[in-house]
Amino acid sequence: MKLPVVTGGAGFIGSALVRTLLEKGAPRVAVIDNFSSGKEENLAEVRENVDVYPVDIRDYPRLAPLLEGAPVIYHLAAIPSVPRSIQDPVPSHEVNINGTFHVLRAAVEGRAGRVVYAASSSAYGDTETLPKTESMAPRPKSPYAMQKLAGEYYCSVFSSCYGLETVSLRFFNVFGPRQDPSSPYSGVLSIFMTRLLERRPPVIFGDGEQSRDFTYVEDVAELCWKAARAPAEAVSGRVYNAGNGGRYTLNETWRLLCRMEGVEIEPEYGPPRPGDVRHSQADTAAAVRDLGHAPRFTFEEGLRRTLAWYRSVWQASRAS
Ligand code: UD1
Repeated sequence: MKLPVVTGGAGFIGSALVRTLLEKGAPRVAVIDNFSSGKEENLAEVRENVDVYPVDIRDYPRLAPLLEGAPVIYHLAAIPSVPRSIQDPVPSHEVNINGTFHVLRAAVEGRAGRVVYAASSSAYGDTETLPKTESMAPRPKSPYAMQKLAGEYYCSVFSSCYGLETVSLRFFNVFGPRQDPSSPYSGVLSIFMTRLLERRPPVIFGDGEQSRDFTYVEDVAELCWKAARAPAEAVSGRVYNAGNGGRYTLNETWRLLCRMEGVEIEPEYGPPRPGDVRHSQADTAAAVRDLGHAPRFTFEEGLRRTLAWYRSVWQASRAS
């Protein structure tokens, strides 16, 4: 039997999606990951139900046979981070644009059922109004944003030219357990959590009044699953926001975390980050209407769960 495939399935979001697919009844899931940022340990609890292929999506000859006949390909493999793409644009261009092209080409040649693509809210750039709706003209501000947007365009063109079913989901600042805090390019909440547990101030870039629609990873995983099942006539070739619909500034978020932990730590401030979007908030109406999106986790609940996970990892590392 052909299995659903998750590219980037050993990553923080990909591994959550693998767990969701198994919970929803998939007997097994195939994971393609080059382990550049993915980790075997992210799949530890479900390892016996997962076929792992350590393959790079830039390597078409090795990639193509793995996608043949797949009912659904969830394409999450990417090199993320706005600042990393500004610092070093070549690798992210090759993975995020060329790699995505390879996945789509292999999906067509191998007669795969559908591609669900992890697009990014960064494609919007700075819009004049909030929340951001899919009908707004994209204004990417960084190579990363432009690369993710190019992937979306490729998805819709493959849908119209080759009849491949595709759905692009613009992820809005996903957070949750297993997000790696160890790089300067890590997602801000993974860095905030670690600093909080260490009782050290975070460094906020700019005035901290920029805002994000932080979205809990399990809600995003569930939406990917729903996107694979929505009727093709309604959704194929289209782009949907995958957000929670809320918006919190970094200053508010740090204060909220401090309150949860019962501490008061003043953040430090550094220069604003090039390519940074000022405000981000999803209009979820289209995803609710066409995909049945129903986020289950409020921001606070997501933060509590995430903090509990970081605490358990932190305590285990101190005990060893
Ligand atoms: C962007 C995209 C997001 C995508 C992600 C992939 C937007 C609105 N969002 O996230 O959809 O998934 O890229 O990498 O474009 N910050 C600090 N201190 C830190 C780290 C970050 O203040 O130590 C700030 C950043 O300057 C930024 C905010 O926190 O204003 C969020 O940063 P980050 O978590 O890196 O994500 P985005 O760049 O917003």
